[in-house]
Amino acid sequence: MVEIYRRRGAFGLVVLLVVALTPPAFAAAAGSGAAAAPAYAGVGNIQRARLNYILHCQGCHLPDGSGFVGKVPNMKGYVGNFLQVEGGREFLVRVPGSATTPLGDAALAELLNWMLVAFSAAQIPESFAPYSAAEVGRLRVRPLQEVEKHRAVLVSNIERATAGARQ
Ligand code: HEC
Repeated sequence: MVEIYRRRGAFGLVVLLVVALTPPAFAAAAGSGAAAAPAYAGVGNIQRARLNYILHCQGCHLPDGSGFVGKVPNMKGYVGNFLQVEGGREFLVRVPGSATTPLGDAALAELLNWMLVAFSAAQIPESFAPYSAAEVGRLRVRPLQEVEKHRAVLVSNIERATAGARQ
């Protein structure tokens, strides 16, 4: 029995590492040109950021960020929109999933910078400056209450902003 558990444990670790080291399908889909690797500003170590996402976030958000309809919002092709409206930059840090993760400030900043590019590069405004550890540290001490209400306001502002941009 013990042997089986031990083997399973080792198997789990191998699976985790394989998952961590395999380039995600969405990166290939998102890259436009031949070897156009997206520029991950503010990400010191892409592998580490991905692994932190796998360990701390993907259980709810899924590997491609698509979430669960009605439970966990889709971030794919969307989450970068928050950076286009007032309060959105803060929201992405103060949302409980981010703010209360056991990761340190630098690791969380790196993870958010990675996540935005990995899932939603096209929606990030040109003016975006990556999160720093100091900014994240300052914001996360006040995790959001009434997240849904807060989010709904931001989403309706995003809708207005992106509708305006299309005209
Ligand atoms: C237990 C499930 C769970 C985990 C784990 C989790 N999240 Fe979330 N996340 C949610 C839910 C649910 C929302 C929607 C807002 C809310 O109700 O908190 C959300 C919203 C977000 C948002 C805002 C996106 C939007 O459209 O509202 C970000 C950014 C985010 N999470 C980042 C993270 C990061 C980074 C991690 C890992 C460090 C993480 N989350 C871990 C459940 C989770």
